[in-house]
Amino acid sequence: MVEKKFNEEYFNKNEFFKEDPWRFGRSPYELNKYQRQIDLIKALISPKKPEKVDSILEVSSAEGIFTQMLLENFENAKITGVEFSSEAFKRSVKNLEPYGERVELIHGDIVDYAKNLKEKSFDAAVMSEVILYIGNDHSFTEMNDRVFYPVANSLKLGGVLVIAQIVDQKGYPEEDLSKTPIIHSYKAMLRDQPILKKVYDEPFFEYKDEEDQVFNYELWGFRRVDEKVEPNWKWRK
Ligand SMILES: C[S@@+](CC[C@H](N)C(=O)[O-])C[C@H]1O[C@@H](n2cnc3c(N)ncnc32)[C@H](O)[C@@H]1O
Repeated sequence: MVEKKFNEEYFNKNEFFKEDPWRFGRSPYELNKYQRQIDLIKALISPKKPEKVDSILEVSSAEGIFTQMLLENFENAKITGVEFSSEAFKRSVKNLEPYGERVELIHGDIVDYAKNLKEKSFDAAVMSEVILYIGNDHSFTEMNDRVFYPVANSLKLGGVLVIAQIVDQKGYPEEDLSKTPIIHSYKAMLRDQPILKKVYDEPFFEYKDEEDQVFNYELWGFRRVDEKVEPNWKWRK
């Protein structure tokens, strides 16, 4: 039985009791991390132009800070954000109001919601700093069947999945969950999806001024492929 710790209540009480707890909207480190994810989507989606991107899924849209950057960088895209902290969700609705129908915000747990994602409907999906939380509360099988596979399956052929995740974090409640073998096991699960191909995998070591420490995070990119023509599919058939 997996101990459920990082549930909605945890985030409401420990993080989103105040606005922007991680300084997502102000920290150069965080903004740089968002920009890298955006640049990676642009690079991997090429030769499709960013203005031709019409749909992006954001798993854990929090207060909508990254969402807003996505909206500005992909000017014709509609963003679907799924976020389970009610406090963060309420603020995201307010923060993103100016974007009107370009934003669809869903208050929910991606583990329950992912089954509702329509097949081949997004140009891109992002999961920024969230997989370790989900992983703490769910088995590998659940991660695979209820999160990774349905998210991958919701991408159009050629669509991209971009993931940013801190590795080997020190001195935080997430410390144990961010150990390299755990994070890399998620990477292996994604790589082995019959409908994904790993196309980018880079570590970054960057100083976060506000916390006076260097964080190591990894950025991964996967492309949605057609399992019928990709020879490397092994399972789930
Ligand atoms: C460290 S924050 C990252 C937020 C955002 N992705 C970003 O990079 O700015 C983690 C977020 O994941 C959300 N979260 C955690 N588990 C979730 C789940 N199972 N479904 C949806 N959101 C989840 C939390 O509420 C929180 O907003």
